[in-house]
Amino acid sequence: MSDPDVELEARLAEQDSFEPPADFVEQANVSDPGIYEEFDDNWPDCWTRAADLLDWATEYTEVLDDSNPPFYEWFADGELNASANCLDRHLDDRGDEAAIEWVGEPTDEANRTYTYAELHREVNEFAAALRDLGVEEDDVVTMYMPMIPELPVAMLACARIGAPHSVVFAGFSADALATRMNAADSEYLVTCDGYYRRGDPLDHLDKANEGLAGVDHGTDTVVVDRLPNSDSFGHDRTDSQHSYADLVADHEGATVKPVARNAEDMLFLMYTSGTTGEPKGVKHTTGGYLSWASWTSHAVLDIKPEDTYFCAADIGWITGHSYIVYGPLALGTTTMMYEGTRDYPDRNRLWEIIEAYEANQLYTAPTAIRAFMKWGEEYPADHDLSSLRLLGTVGEPINPRAWKWYYKHIGDESCPIVDTWWQTETGGMMVTTLPGVGEMKPGSAGPPLPGVSADVVDVSGSPVGAGDAGYLVANKPWPGMLRTLYRNDERFIDEYWREYSQVDSDDSADWVYFPEDGAKLDEDGYITVLGRVDDVLNVSGHRLGTMELESAIVGVEGVAEAAVVGGDHEIKGEAVYAYVITEEGYEETEGLRDRIIEGVEDAIGPIARPEAVIFTPELPKTRSGKIMRRLLEDIANGDDLGDTSTLRNPDVVTDIQSRAGGD
Ligand code: WT7
Repeated sequence: MSDPDVELEARLAEQDSFEPPADFVEQANVSDPGIYEEFDDNWPDCWTRAADLLDWATEYTEVLDDSNPPFYEWFADGELNASANCLDRHLDDRGDEAAIEWVGEPTDEANRTYTYAELHREVNEFAAALRDLGVEEDDVVTMYMPMIPELPVAMLACARIGAPHSVVFAGFSADALATRMNAADSEYLVTCDGYYRRGDPLDHLDKANEGLAGVDHGTDTVVVDRLPNSDSFGHDRTDSQHSYADLVADHEGATVKPVARNAEDMLFLMYTSGTTGEPKGVKHTTGGYLSWASWTSHAVLDIKPEDTYFCAADIGWITGHSYIVYGPLALGTTTMMYEGTRDYPDRNRLWEIIEAYEANQLYTAPTAIRAFMKWGEEYPADHDLSSLRLLGTVGEPINPRAWKWYYKHIGDESCPIVDTWWQTETGGMMVTTLPGVGEMKPGSAGPPLPGVSADVVDVSGSPVGAGDAGYLVANKPWPGMLRTLYRNDERFIDEYWREYSQVDSDDSADWVYFPEDGAKLDEDGYITVLGRVDDVLNVSGHRLGTMELESAIVGVEGVAEAAVVGGDHEIKGEAVYAYVITEEGYEETEGLRDRIIEGVEDAIGPIARPEAVIFTPELPKTRSGKIMRRLLEDIANGDDLGDTSTLRNPDVVTDIQSRAGGD
């Protein structure tokens, strides 16, 4: 490194706050610091600002109905259609502009551009086809697809006819698909024959078929042929399996009038992990959710119609729903979709894409940034990334070192970084700086967004002072919030409200939302999110319930008991550590270890693959018989264990430590 570089590194290492770059502020969608006060003074009517970004078929007359907390309703007597908002209304001005730039794998020949006019046409054709298959308003349509353009087409086609979608991440297992289709009584599936991973074709239909075999009711399936020949893997297709290409061709030129949906009607379901083994069906609505996704895309990601915006997430997660599909398209911008992985064919891949498409924003996860950092700055340095105007992160805490690396080596110190805290349940961003307004503090997400009322409290619900750690809560409802857990209002209340609310009160002020994250507050009201406080791991920004993992492991023949904890991981943030007790008569063999790993992959998917499986004759338990997870975490991390004398079986600890490779 030359001297100025060394100086720069030293300065960056010491600097703990950064002003938004002046050039950015000048052009920012939101740059008036008065917005915080303005929203507070005018709450909840401030949210017309979000709703006004949309076209309404019937104007709403009331912003918030809080008469029956926590079942809040937003813009409740308004009507709109999400597909019309993402497509039709842009046709005049942006019809010939790119709506989606799709970068496929493995070669650039696969790349496709969909203009707004083209996307509108295909969405209409597929919407007509879905109707002909029998899909009616409010029928849940499941999608089990990788990052191919037909996924957003299918989502928007469903939105057009008022059928909620439920997208299941393509990396999830067949079991996970079946569980979700059963839970939603979903009779329709859109999937594909296969896709490419690191250059190799992968059989996806096989997994989909296996999942369908576990569905307890009849289904119709639409299969997109992504691979060059439709019988790549030689599956026989049944009468209930329809070809996407044929359906679209049969409905060539069809138009489907967008169904006016009530603002509170369900737009989609998204299953996510919780503390019990059963996934939670998070319900999002048409009016509140779409307003939220659009407003935060506008205010935080600073998206403008003429931008090319790149979010490197997967549409199978909420980030892709809100910030690849709905937010960006509602604003009429060009949204990018990348099918592949970040290091195939090599580590230049992402930077090549940004350079080639002149992307203006990059929104990705800390796990990716940690990997880039590890590979080295020479990869981004080889590319012209000057088109970038803003950087974002989401999914897990980002440590100051990774933040600064991102700021310097990707953003060239001229792009603000938004560290956005939110969840599947919140629908969109909640805590982050406004890039054209707020000072950035690496490692701290920032203040709650204008109009969002978030705080850090202690166990009794009293606000903690500056500098103290506690639990993150939201004291007021917001339009993008989940409305309930699908068909389970009781669990909705138990999971998110019971902890800090007076649940028998019908005064909205007595209801407090608990996202189950720990956090710290500083003297400027900035929130540093510390991580989950429930039994949920965050592996590479993906949520995995320990119960789900444990029940998968206990399902393997030869396993008597299992405890799963998160251990630190350089790239993934957290990794799955499984402590396993074998059944009488079973040996602790490599074969069993492999079957356990396979069992987890089958039940959940490869993202849940355990980093380590540690056999142990016993688990450390308290006198009352509760597994001491904290201790298992410390063992996984090689940390000092402190006092273990309160254990019922203290001797087991040294034994496990030696098996885990510790002292
Ligand atoms: C959990 C939500 C939000 C979309 C992707 C994950 C953690 C999220 C941050 C952040 C620290 C974060 C929280 C949250 N998280 N963003 N900027 N800083 N932690 O969605 O699967 O619903 O997970 O991710 O623990 O509760 P999700």
